[in-house]
Amino acid sequence: MAGKVGVGLLGLGTVGGGVASILQNPSERHPLVGELELIRVAVRDLNRPRPVALDESLLTTDPSAVIQDPAVDVVVEVIGGLEPARSLILQAIAAGKSVVTANKAVIARHGQEIAEAAAAARVYVLIEAAVGGGIPIIEPLKQSLGGNRINRVSGIINGTTNYILTRMAEEGAAYDAVLKDAQELGYAEADPAADVDGLDAADKIAILATLAFGGSVDRSAVPTDGISGLQGVDVDYANQLGYGVKLLAVAERMAERMPNSDDPLPLSLRVQPTLVPKDHPLAGVNGVNNAILVEGDPIGRVMFYGPGAGAGPTASAVVADILNIAGIRKASDGPGKVDPLLAASSWRPCSLVDSGDIRQRHYVRFKTKDAPGVIGNVGGCFGQRNVSIQSIVQFNASDAGAEIVVITHEVSQRQMNEALEAIQALPEVSGLAAHLGCL
Ligand code: HSE
Repeated sequence: MAGKVGVGLLGLGTVGGGVASILQNPSERHPLVGELELIRVAVRDLNRPRPVALDESLLTTDPSAVIQDPAVDVVVEVIGGLEPARSLILQAIAAGKSVVTANKAVIARHGQEIAEAAAAARVYVLIEAAVGGGIPIIEPLKQSLGGNRINRVSGIINGTTNYILTRMAEEGAAYDAVLKDAQELGYAEADPAADVDGLDAADKIAILATLAFGGSVDRSAVPTDGISGLQGVDVDYANQLGYGVKLLAVAERMAERMPNSDDPLPLSLRVQPTLVPKDHPLAGVNGVNNAILVEGDPIGRVMFYGPGAGAGPTASAVVADILNIAGIRKASDGPGKVDPLLAASSWRPCSLVDSGDIRQRHYVRFKTKDAPGVIGNVGGCFGQRNVSIQSIVQFNASDAGAEIVVITHEVSQRQMNEALEAIQALPEVSGLAAHLGCL
């Protein structure tokens, strides 16, 4: 392809500013960066302060003007949110433009629609920035690990919550106080719900599962629990028992239920605060960093680690995608061989198992009377439902009561729920104070 590759930017917030900054400073980067030209930028308000100095003539408040500009070859969507972002991505595809987006919410819910539209229009939609910020994880799952039978993808894929959990663990600080600090430092949004309720991580694990297992998953069916109910005392007890607490997102193949080749591939997905043994590779991932552990056959375990959010890291991933498109187009002097978003033409059906069938270890904390036989009765309820206990510890026993912490071996959620119901009915148990996952 002769000449420069025109880039149109939809959004000039944190990530858009980071992208513009790289495009305006190509010196000493890959030579192809110098062949990218920022053509137009859509912003919401022409009078707002900019994160980067830009020629004002590039700015418009009309995203369609960016998409339809004949000099724009690649549309970069960094507006975020579901609408108008989804419609603008589809509009760009319909206009024959390739798209780069960091929008995990749109891709997790509308990835299939977008991939099919991209394949029909023979354009690219690349999403490296949608998961893990600057960490290369999308292209490795799509390409480098393609020969593996992936069994499990798990990780810390939300920087805001990992920052909060790290400070709770290191300082013994309370959730509310750390959240307030995180907001003041700009790590957490004024409305932190998408992060602290686990919704952002659920979008991301749905995308990773689609790539790892080669089929779309129902985002709305991902069991999701965040950290807003997490108490410092559980972080402390977990620490005493040899664990850190992380907001873990997990996608795994239910290997014991391998279907006939025509049946949907059964998968289990979840997002929840989880105890991670201190010698596990994910336990040392602190602050706003993210890490994704991919387990497959024959590769074994591979971990991807790095900065999971922020202007620079996310822009690094966006520009890499633009360069991929520019490079392929240049090499083929045309639209080239289309490898759209998620290779949707070869997807297989996947189904999420019932949440009662999800198997894992559990951490639970009960408030009880400090009386003879309590631990025995609690243990009996677990044993009668075939829930095997790995450890049971009593903390803080006094006249006012006691706390019993139990870590189980791997059991189904259904067995666990039945045991918990029976335990909460015991007269000496005053309540279930915490219930977390455990690796
Ligand atoms: N809010 C996200 C996080 C960053 O805290 O990880 C964007 O995906």
